Amino acid sequence: MTECWLVTGGAGFIGSNLVDHLLRRGHQVVVLDDFSTGSPDNLPGGDDISVLRADVTSTESLDVAMATVSGVFHCAATVGVQDCIDDWFGAHATNATATIRLFETAQRKGNLPVVYASSAAVYGNRSGEVCHEDLPLDPVSPYGADKLACENHARAFWQVHRLPTAGLRIFNVYGPRQTVASSYSGVLAQFGQNWQAGRPNVVFGDGLQSRDFVYVSDVVAGMAAAMDRLRRTPRCFVSNICTGRSVSILDLLALFEGAAGRPAPGPTEFRPARPGEIRSSCGATARMAELLGLYRTVPLEDGLRAYLNSLEPRATVEAPLVQALE
Ligand SMILES: NC(=O)c1ccc[n+]([C@@H]2O[C@H](COP(=O)([O-])OP(=O)(O)OC[C@H]3O[C@@H](n4cnc5c(N)ncnc54)[C@H](O)[C@@H]3O)[C@@H](O)[C@H]2O)c1
Repeated sequence: MTECWLVTGGAGFIGSNLVDHLLRRGHQVVVLDDFSTGSPDNLPGGDDISVLRADVTSTESLDVAMATVSGVFHCAATVGVQDCIDDWFGAHATNATATIRLFETAQRKGNLPVVYASSAAVYGNRSGEVCHEDLPLDPVSPYGADKLACENHARAFWQVHRLPTAGLRIFNVYGPRQTVASSYSGVLAQFGQNWQAGRPNVVFGDGLQSRDFVYVSDVVAGMAAAMDRLRRTPRCFVSNICTGRSVSILDLLALFEGAAGRPAPGPTEFRPARPGEIRSSCGATARMAELLGLYRTVPLEDGLRAYLNSLEPRATVEAPLVQALE
């Protein structure tokens, strides 16, 4: 059945991949985005999509955007950790206060289900530990603190109003439309761009720091599955979106060589480690398997190939690896 969904931040990296997924399934989509980091170029035209250029902090805009939708996917945020430090209050307004406003609007509209992007940043510095959802949370940045505030308010909205919400603690995402400006998996986007341009790569520190890299189609599948879950059984939950595999930056370079079918462009340049960078990050997958049916994720080797293909001139972003969950 055709339904209409609101995607905030729908012109961004993850949001636009989600918009594509919803349209491919025959749905209609309302995008609310201020285009601060997202781009209209990420959005298709057509009768099934309407775009509201607006600030997610505005209650009036949220009211308009939610007028006719069945549910909300909330991706709009100030994503750069350093941006959140530089403009602590501005980022707080977008990342925390606007999310509370969005919950309140969804509640007024009849308890619309909300799937919102939380982040692995709520775990803080857990080097060496596999992060599962029941760990004590210890964010070390205003960005992580605001994402945790969203989770806390989601729980409170459930207690007070029975507003159904799913908070997805997303790890390091990569895939088509990721910009090099992303402070998450900037490393992957940087490597991809360097490979295309024939520029040498830069590694900060010894390259043994590791991350749990998750392909964007798995994030999209997780968001869609979370919405299905909320509609079947209204509730409030959080779940990781990750692969359970942590890969070092040096191994990532080797995998890139394999995926690109050619050696890295020039010798890798090593620069001093960046202060405050966490050593390793890895998420537990049990809850996303149990709650979202995400038992398999795209192997990094396949995701890298698809990502590199998407960088080729005239490539079409067909999200080749979207899972069977559709
Ligand atoms: N990319 C990752 O690795 C990752 C990891 C964990 C969580 N997340 C979360 O996923 C969500 C999407 O991230 P992304 O990587 O696609 O980032 P992105 O910057 O590509 O997308 C964010 C979108 O939100 C829009 N936006 C920002 N502020 C806004 C405002 N005030 N009003 C309206 N629109 C606004 C931007 O223009 C952009 O289109 C964010 O909530 C982010 O915190 C991302």
